[in-house]
Amino acid sequence: MGTRPGQLSTQAATAIRGALLDCVADPFYQTETEAVRYIADGLLVIRQGHIEALGPYDELKPTLGDLPVVDYTGKLIVPGLIDTHIHYPQTGMIAAYGEQLLEWLHCYTFPTERKFADAAYARSIADLFLDELLKNGTTTALVFAAVFPASVDAFFEAAEARNLRMISGKVMMDRNAPDYLSDTAQSSYDESKALIEKWHGRERLLYAVTPRFAGTSSEAQLKLAARLLDEFPDVYLHTHLSENVNEVAWIQSLFPQYQGYLDVYDQTGLVRERSLFAHGVQLTDAEFQRLSEAKAAISFCPTSNLFLGSGLFRIEQAKNPEYPVKVGLGTDVGAGTSFSLLQTTNEAYKVAQLRGQKLSAFRALFLATLGGARALCLEDKLGSFDPGKEADFVVLDPQATTLLALRNEAGIPLTLESLADLLFSLVIMGGDRAVTATYIMGELAYPTADD
Ligand code: GUN
Ligand code: ZN
Repeated sequence: MGTRPGQLSTQAATAIRGALLDCVADPFYQTETEAVRYIADGLLVIRQGHIEALGPYDELKPTLGDLPVVDYTGKLIVPGLIDTHIHYPQTGMIAAYGEQLLEWLHCYTFPTERKFADAAYARSIADLFLDELLKNGTTTALVFAAVFPASVDAFFEAAEARNLRMISGKVMMDRNAPDYLSDTAQSSYDESKALIEKWHGRERLLYAVTPRFAGTSSEAQLKLAARLLDEFPDVYLHTHLSENVNEVAWIQSLFPQYQGYLDVYDQTGLVRERSLFAHGVQLTDAEFQRLSEAKAAISFCPTSNLFLGSGLFRIEQAKNPEYPVKVGLGTDVGAGTSFSLLQTTNEAYKVAQLRGQKLSAFRALFLATLGGARALCLEDKLGSFDPGKEADFVVLDPQATTLLALRNEAGIPLTLESLADLLFSLVIMGGDRAVTATYIMGELAYPTADD
């Protein structure tokens, strides 16, 4: 089929109409006018799962021939949300009462993760987990599996069946954990290597070498994790760092030869560009500076940090322009209390308030989209509507509930200032109910006929 000049070919293409909003730069470092792209009545053209074009409806529509348009007028369309830290095996133990990190791990987490030796059970939770992500508008996540290789297979099989871009890995844990959850330095290396060879780069799936944290790994295990990063330079490193005061003191006592928590990872070869560290609540300024130098990333997990009483993340320090650190948002379920990244931005705003800081709606959106993509070194594929990127996006309803409808009765705004106000209402009040639809590679993934 030929295409007339000025007309896009309609083969395997879809067009989506609505208010289009994305970040094209970092609003922590550039003005919001520079960082935010907004088309109040826009059209997003998708071909073979990728974004082909975007622009004002009135300008683009006449170039598209009779390409059918899915009309979301009155709704806000943003890039798919990116969760940079979550544990799928902890889905069922969300809201576990009364403990802080180290006790919480032993009382609740380890017994729960034991169940993931059973591949069928792991698959059933992986399915439920991914459906929950899509319902909340999350299209990509960096996910802890459990120590059992079968738990990684179950997760990746479920993600592949949904055509999702997901990153996961087997937990490595060779000490200070129950026997039923422990591997050895060598077995964790061998099993992780086999999983990388099986899954990394298959369809949209990517692998993260995943030592749980310095508390449950020997030095030998951390060094073998680094060897995997040398052998497979485009896999990720995913772990926890400096979450809780007692944890930091404990790590120092386990590794007295090192200059602090981050130094344990650094001296064993784990602080790199594709390394993502969850939490970082207790980091010193010098540690932030080292993460910046290494181009490593932090996942800010406010609902978890508040739930476990871990503390208040210093986002202004992480975003210090002198030594900037890449930051994404993480739900950290099951220590986190919600699958919703909108709910997570709500708590991030409150954490900033408690430190006398303001987290604007556009900065919150950045953290949940392009900021997350940058933290995962995936900004060439995800995080905005730039043509060529993968067409994962979310349709939000600014009037989803009675209260939101009252708050946003003026409807879709025309100015950036009014948009900031509407978006802030979604940052604070939006949760899964604000998500009208989630698209994966241009295909409707939520709701399905079963929803
Ligand atoms: N540190 C080590 N393991 C965990 C975990 O499962 N959750 C959280 N929040 N912190 C950890
Ligand atoms: Zn975690």
